[in-house]
Amino acid sequence: MRVGVLTGGGDCPGLNAVLRAIVRKAERHYGDEVVGFRDAWDGVMERRMVPLTVETMRGLLPRGGTVLGTRRGSPFDSANGVALTQATMSDMGLDGLIVIGGNGSLSVACKLHHEHGMNVIGVPKTIDNDIEGTDVTFGFNTAVQIATDAIDRLHTTAESHDRVMVVEVMGRHSGWIATYAGIAGGAAVVLIPERPFDIDEVCERIVRRHQRGRFASIVVVAEGATPKSGTLEAIDRKVDRFGHQRLGGIGNVVATEIGERTGFETRPVLLGHVQRGGTPTAFDRVLSTRFGVAAIDALHDRAWGHMVALRGDRVVHTPLVDVIGRTRPVDISLFDDVAQLFFA
Ligand code: F6P
Repeated sequence: MRVGVLTGGGDCPGLNAVLRAIVRKAERHYGDEVVGFRDAWDGVMERRMVPLTVETMRGLLPRGGTVLGTRRGSPFDSANGVALTQATMSDMGLDGLIVIGGNGSLSVACKLHHEHGMNVIGVPKTIDNDIEGTDVTFGFNTAVQIATDAIDRLHTTAESHDRVMVVEVMGRHSGWIATYAGIAGGAAVVLIPERPFDIDEVCERIVRRHQRGRFASIVVVAEGATPKSGTLEAIDRKVDRFGHQRLGGIGNVVATEIGERTGFETRPVLLGHVQRGGTPTAFDRVLSTRFGVAAIDALHDRAWGHMVALRGDRVVHTPLVDVIGRTRPVDISLFDDVAQLFFA
């Protein structure tokens, strides 16, 4: 077969490992030819492609980011985008396209399949871990490790200065990174999108902790955490030309409020894209490799319109249509019964 592949949405540790695995199995096992599209859908529409071979994939397993490049946007953003995409597929003699992306890219892939008959296979990707249908996405484990390492380092400053440190982590719609890093890093409070917060309650907890003689407190805030309505002024969010809201900044608001309301010295730390950069953990390298192998197998099974997924310890495939348009919330019992047990 002749196979196209693209990486869409935000970059994520493990993307190159998925590409490497697809190419390895495609070339060595099936005798396929694989081409990579540069810059996601832009590269498909503009026919910017590179041959991917076992040789050119060497050394990519531990490398962060994506060697193909990535962009937001899709063929549905312009009047002739779908026609250009279809023309590339047929003119280049491609039998199928593997789309490695988050909720946005997978929705586009699903639509291209169901409305335009395109042969697509999805691979779920996001550090946020918020894609339905899979127990976990690659990149999440790495992001949690980076956030936990940062929290460990912040503990020493917090203790030395008797400060409250507010750590903002990623998590647009779901509090997975915040909950895991909060548990792993011993946070006194964790704020997540699934549970709008009351700043008075947060301050009471920290004051109570200080009254018990524990001064240094770590507060972990997911970037998508929001105050309960009427308790704090909402942040003015900027939206890019694709309708993608630029988050980040709630950590500053929370730190300022805690400082002013409690009188405790409080500092914000916004981890931002540090969480998405650099080498994937061993767990993510293995998961990415398994997803890549499963994606090329799914393509040979002609499981068009499906994405690969982890269920328990097995990699399966599942229809994209059951997955898109939803976000996977954090396991709320993990938050309520485990994370909260350690709150101040
Ligand atoms: O979806 C993953 C994610 O890392 C979100 O947590 C974050 O809000 C977003 O990407 C940031 O996107 P960008 O890199 O385009 O600013």
